[in-house]
Amino acid sequence: MSRDRRQDHDLKRGLGNAFGVRRSPIRPAARWLDTNLGGSGLLRAELRHIFPDSWAFFLGEIAMFCFIILVATGIFLALFFQASEAPVVYDGSYAPLAGAEISIAYDSVLELSLDVPAGLLMRQVHHWAALVFVGALIIHLLRMLLTAAYRRPRRINYLIGVSLVLLVGMNGLMGYSLPDDLLSGTGLRIAFSITESIPFIGPALATLLFGGEFPSGGLIARIYPVHIFLLPAAIAGLLGAHLGLLWLQRHTQFPGPGRSDRVIVGTPMVPAYALRTTGYLLMVAGVCTAFAAFAQINPVWLYGPYRAWDATTAAQPDWYMGWLEGAVRMMPGWDIQIGGLLIPAIFWPAVVLPGLIFTPLFLVPWIDWVATRDGAFHNVLMLPGQHPVRSALTAGFIAFLTVLLVAGGNDVFAFVYGWSQPAFLTVLQYLFFLLPPAVAVVTYALLRVRARRWATTVR
Ligand code: HEM
Repeated sequence: MSRDRRQDHDLKRGLGNAFGVRRSPIRPAARWLDTNLGGSGLLRAELRHIFPDSWAFFLGEIAMFCFIILVATGIFLALFFQASEAPVVYDGSYAPLAGAEISIAYDSVLELSLDVPAGLLMRQVHHWAALVFVGALIIHLLRMLLTAAYRRPRRINYLIGVSLVLLVGMNGLMGYSLPDDLLSGTGLRIAFSITESIPFIGPALATLLFGGEFPSGGLIARIYPVHIFLLPAAIAGLLGAHLGLLWLQRHTQFPGPGRSDRVIVGTPMVPAYALRTTGYLLMVAGVCTAFAAFAQINPVWLYGPYRAWDATTAAQPDWYMGWLEGAVRMMPGWDIQIGGLLIPAIFWPAVVLPGLIFTPLFLVPWIDWVATRDGAFHNVLMLPGQHPVRSALTAGFIAFLTVLLVAGGNDVFAFVYGWSQPAFLTVLQYLFFLLPPAVAVVTYALLRVRARRWATTVR
């Protein structure tokens, strides 16, 4: 058989096997492409790429699908949104604001929400997808911590994952700052104060980033390209690198029969996994759309336009910013004056604390290596019960974040349950120090007892 015919034959068999069909309508097109470009052998191997079966792997996929949904709905929003703070007199269909002087940005979001067909649905799908995106990323990250998936050879991919959490959260903050309503303006004012609080460079940095004293008048026009282009491009790049590395290094898998660091047990990409994952994409899009249809989010017309002298009560940021808000609310107003240098109280919870959280989080694979001296390659995950210390620390970390998050909504909790707000805040300040170690110790003890019982049963 000539070389060309043998390649044809291989390609036919490869496609037939991969798609599970004898006669495929795409075969002539595939043959033409292979004759001109080659690569059927590689493609055949990659179409059989094995994905381990576990619900845990779905978390990363949810995040990826949310990004796709955000880009698709974001393009729709960008057709109508106008990034300008120039004043305009409102003459749209929302009667309570008739005749009010508002910014063009706010005006365009009101129009999107109340006058553009499907505009409100698109806004709400976009917003819900952002909330689900960060949620999926964080649970995905916690799964990495609990199962030690960050060990060699996946250290770099772990770093990419933590960076994604940061960038997506930042882009969410930029996104909900765009409509120029009272809530988003209040968030931006806090962001300005946080930047300004950094010793020595703060004021200059704030002027550089915000275009002068807040409100500078040109801020939305600055944020807009960052939100729709710079950060999405960075996120797309990191996501591509994350998936590329995942493909090359293969998935990790939970321990089970026949599984080892060298043998992966699971489903081939084509046809089963590809079909399943397409179904998941549609499911995630469906769930975000259902949330958007039935659960109102960010009704900016009710908040009113941003005015520096106005303030709302019970103002809440999006949930993934709640922990930072909580830290700021819990910090006593201890401004420190050293000679001519003033360090405002907000610097500690809003700049130092995030640094103290994210630096060790980025370093987890290396901290783990120092603690365990385990530098080997691992494809099989550990179960949380197999390493009580690691799981206890992760549980303590979750408790720590939960306290911060609850503190971010302390006024709402106090109002709903009829508690005294200052007393509740004091309780949270105690919990900030006491709950994480308590949760870690209890988790450790429970896992040790379980491990001992398990060892006795096995014996
Ligand atoms: C990681 C990706 C992204 C996240 C987390 C995100 C998040 C958000 C959020 C939370 C809002 C506020 C929505 C609201 O008003 O209730 C928003 C607004 C907006 N986003 Fe995005 N977004 C992302 C990507 C994009 C992309 C790629 C585009 C355009 C191609 C885009 C265009 C817009 C526009 C025009 C608005 C303002 C309109 C409005 O607020 O209704 N976004 N974004």
